[in-house]
Amino acid sequence: MRQTLVICKPDAVERGLVGEILGRFERKGLTVAALEHRTIDRDTAERHYSEHAGKPFYEPLLDFITRSSSVVIVLEGPADAGGDVFAVVRTLMGATNPATAAPGTIRGDYGLSPTENLVHGSDSEASAQREIALFFPSVVSSNNKVGS
Ligand code: RTP
Ligand code: MG
Repeated sequence: MRQTLVICKPDAVERGLVGEILGRFERKGLTVAALEHRTIDRDTAERHYSEHAGKPFYEPLLDFITRSSSVVIVLEGPADAGGDVFAVVRTLMGATNPATAAPGTIRGDYGLSPTENLVHGSDSEASAQREIALFFPSVVSSNNKVGS
């Protein structure tokens, strides 16, 4: 799997940290395959985070992710990279709760709020494919074939 979806969430845009976050992924060796600055609407947010419907943090999460603009990105890894790109991104992001995320990770270095944690990354190959199709239906998925 060579592509994954990343969202620089509203807090990252508001705090001017998009360049810092994207730069970390780029310096790691990942490249931008698609990028859009957009305010995520409620319907898209509900579909994106449908796995969390009914959880205590679900409504606050929807309010947060829709409150102002995000930068939504498809990141791509080189064909000869070992491992899955989604997993590389998740490692650089750090644990969900920034208060306990490791220093050196994006969340560990820049956040404290369990909700406003700066960045989203797909958590599996299946999630990456679903999320790329949701946000960038025109992006061709041929690059996602293993070994391509
Ligand atoms: P993401 O989906 O955004 O990449 O984050 P994740 O996999 O690390 O965490 P996940 O369990 O999927 O949670 C989705 C987002 O919901 C918010 N959240 N708030 N207040 C809370 O306890 C809480 N727990 C989760 C965060 O914005 C989290 O990234
Ligand atoms: Mg998640």
